[in-house]
Amino acid sequence: MSKKYNVVVVGAGPAGYVAAIRCAQLGMSVACVDEWHNAQGESSLGGTCLNVGCIPSKALLESSHLFAMAQNEFKDHGISVTKLRIDVPIMMARKDKVVTELTQGIKALFKANKVEFFHGHARLAQGKKVEVRERGGKKIIDTLEADNIILAAGSSSVHLDQAPLDQQYIVDSTGALEFDAVPKRLGIIGAGAIGLELASVWSRLGSEVVLIEAMDEFLSIADQQISRAAFRSYKKQGMDIRINARLLSATVKNKQVQVTYEDNRGAQQVVFDKLIVAVGRKPNSDTMFGDEMELVIDERSFIHVNKYCETSVPGIYAIGDIVRGPMLAHKGSEEGMMVAERIAGQASSVNYDLIPSVIYTQPEIAWVGKTEQACEAEGVPVNIGIFPMTASGRARAMAASEGMVKIIAHKETDRVLGVHIFSAQASELIAQAVMAMEMGASAEDIALTVFAHPTLAEAIHEAALAVDMRAIHIKN
Ligand code: NAI
Repeated sequence: MSKKYNVVVVGAGPAGYVAAIRCAQLGMSVACVDEWHNAQGESSLGGTCLNVGCIPSKALLESSHLFAMAQNEFKDHGISVTKLRIDVPIMMARKDKVVTELTQGIKALFKANKVEFFHGHARLAQGKKVEVRERGGKKIIDTLEADNIILAAGSSSVHLDQAPLDQQYIVDSTGALEFDAVPKRLGIIGAGAIGLELASVWSRLGSEVVLIEAMDEFLSIADQQISRAAFRSYKKQGMDIRINARLLSATVKNKQVQVTYEDNRGAQQVVFDKLIVAVGRKPNSDTMFGDEMELVIDERSFIHVNKYCETSVPGIYAIGDIVRGPMLAHKGSEEGMMVAERIAGQASSVNYDLIPSVIYTQPEIAWVGKTEQACEAEGVPVNIGIFPMTASGRARAMAASEGMVKIIAHKETDRVLGVHIFSAQASELIAQAVMAMEMGASAEDIALTVFAHPTLAEAIHEAALAVDMRAIHIKN
């Protein structure tokens, strides 16, 4: 006999679990189906973000940052360390503990909110039904009926035929979080968010890192002034970023990965101990339903939705990485809340123009809104204020004076159109810019706001003052 719910959510990542909890808060009966399992074969909620993405990578970034600080910066503080070494298994065990605690936390939240959890592979059936199938098999364990279905099945790594994964020498981003020792020579295909974050982890721990990037412009999605500053900084940190380099082949021979790529000078060869493939992610839309479901899928396998995440089938919604827009946890979570509230009859929406992006290198890159090049391409007249972190007292005291805050405001209205930060703690600082922009702030509004001294955030204040050529701690 099938069980009936107001809402069945497919996927317990940051989009799905947030949608499920919000639906439950609004008084609906909710079930959530997720197939993720840990090494013991048990369910592990939280999707890519908690299990093999945002959270474990941040745990390793933290460990490796501390190691690099101890190695390179402690001496300036008069702190000496002898026999500094990294124990990779201990670092990995700490990362695993963080993941386990957080995934268990979602289970507890489900329990507290009375969200019923089903472990298995969900497949849509006609008449708003969701079959829960045995992992890796066809056997149907449960059938759930729903008034509304929310699809939040996430995404998975794109693989390349030229670099077949063996998960020992050639790995994806998941495998790169599991190394048991620091590879001496590490190759990374793709210098996007994942490539740069993993490059940071392993280069800080001592790997010689080479990134092979197909595009001829480094980090083209970010503001180009910031990308250029970041490129110089990463190079100084020892990362060898080769742009305009197209991978031709990667083969494992004698426990080494032989990579051939092509750049302006022709075919190049390089040998690594490990190779990470980080060339983007694709939506998990292929095994969740058959043709009979009449859900429209676009040419890149995203489920087609409108701005309210409604699919072509009434009562079926799709959110997170499986639909258009940036593949970011916070974007999926916001969509989850919006859909839950719309099912409950509220008029919620997501402001897609103000979704912040962060790349967790050191310094971090964070931005929201339009880049200078986008404004230029659209013919939008702008004033720009830039404040270098080197002029920030707090940044100096922290030995974090690399980078800048850049504010782009409309030339006539002064409304803030974009904020771009390359600095320590940029991931935290950007929230202030998102809030200001969400409230329609002008650069003048930020300039008139009192910021505590001494803080890194003062750089936002000074950049806003600089829009009107009146920053205090730099020559305008
Ligand atoms: P990405 O799309 O950010 O970067 C992939 C890079 O690989 C691109 O620069 C692309 O030009 C390059 N590339 C593609 N094919 C190539 C080839 N054959 N040879 C050489 N280079 C090639 O994808 P990434 O880094 O894998 O991340 C996947 C998703 O996860 C992204 O949507 C990203 O936003 C998200 N993510 C976000 C993070 C964050 O917010 N901090 C962290 C990690 C991932």
